Amino acid sequence: MAALRTTRLLASSRPLFTSSVFARSYATVDPLSKVSEATSASSKFVPESQTSTVKEPAPSATPRTKTFHVYRWDPDTPSEKPRMQSYTLDLNKTGPMMLDALIRIKNEVDPTLTFRRSCREGICGSCAMNIDGVNTLACLCRIPTDTTKESRIYPLPHTYVVKDLVPDLTHFYKQYKSIKPYLQTDSKPEDGLENRQSIEDRRKLDGLYECILCACCSTSCPSYWWNSEEYLGPAILLQSYRWLADSRDSKTEERKAALNNSMSVYRCHTILNCSRTCPKGLNPGKAIAEIKKMMAF
Ligand SMILES: *[C@@H]1O[C@H](CO)[C@@H](O)[C@H](O)[C@H]1NC(C)=O
Ligand SMILES: *[C@@H]1O[C@H](CO)[C@@H](O)[C@H](O)[C@H]1NC(C)=O
Ligand SMILES: *[C@@H]1O[C@H](CO)[C@@H](O)[C@H](O)[C@H]1NC(C)=O
Ligand code: SF4
Ligand code: SF4
Ligand code: FES
Repeated sequence: MAALRTTRLLASSRPLFTSSVFARSYATVDPLSKVSEATSASSKFVPESQTSTVKEPAPSATPRTKTFHVYRWDPDTPSEKPRMQSYTLDLNKTGPMMLDALIRIKNEVDPTLTFRRSCREGICGSCAMNIDGVNTLACLCRIPTDTTKESRIYPLPHTYVVKDLVPDLTHFYKQYKSIKPYLQTDSKPEDGLENRQSIEDRRKLDGLYECILCACCSTSCPSYWWNSEEYLGPAILLQSYRWLADSRDSKTEERKAALNNSMSVYRCHTILNCSRTCPKGLNPGKAIAEIKKMMAF
């Protein structure tokens, strides 16, 4: 793994990409103060004008052409800076979703383009990325049909990049593991069957169990950007609340005690980017508010 060079996207608002990607070694220090130091190796951003546009492979007589600008970074050439690559596609020959466009680019135009996807229906969470300024799932994001507007596709903001649109979610998953995301009970059901709960108690998990851990919310949260080492972020906190709210779980007090510090929960300042961006329509901001309420009593 030592050979894995990753860069980190510094911010979500796009103009920030101009000079702000840097080598992984920065992780233990204050991100803002290290930018200029770490930019020397692999980092300066190459503006689009310096890269060529790759054209639609088989243009028709009446194409409906749209341009996509895609973030590229290759760990095999770490001395080369991240850049934007432009592709044009005929929308008449492309499926309706952003993921369709990416798949078409990879299959027919540029096989080196790298991204993650699996289910193509908003279930696996693999295709989370930042499209036209919004963190979302590429498979649920319609290509805007206005061909005069060009689309910009980046990896999730403030993540280390493994390659192109693939973010390194190792730390995110580590945080998920830390909240013990599974049922903990002291007693077994007397009949030896399932751990059952009432319909009413089950309903308390609605809006929580649907989370697919895509990380769109956490990577849109300014508090998480700047404190991701300690702050759990909206996705993991929503998951944490999913277990706090489960009537069958008997470790509620232990779970609360584990969250009872200044960083895990209380870094949330209720900015609510998380709830705005969730492609599954969930409300992690509300879940965090519920945790705070539980902690207060
Ligand atoms: C492509 O779409 C445009 C606009 O909808 C339409 O006018 C044109 O005929 C289409 N071309 C093909 C080849 O389907
Ligand atoms: C977060 O919300 C602020 C204020 O509404 C907005 O300016 C910013 O673009 C949002 N960031 C993301 C990543 O959604
Ligand atoms: C959190 O910690 C404080 C100070 O140690 C304690 O008074 C409080 O009861 C704890 N709350 C919970 C929910 O564990
Ligand atoms: S409400 Fe909290 S978790 Fe959600 S974006 Fe704001 S600070 Fe982050
Ligand atoms: S709450 Fe929504 S945005 Fe956040 S990880 Fe879950 S599904 Fe993704
Ligand atoms: S490919 Fe599974 S969520 Fe998009």
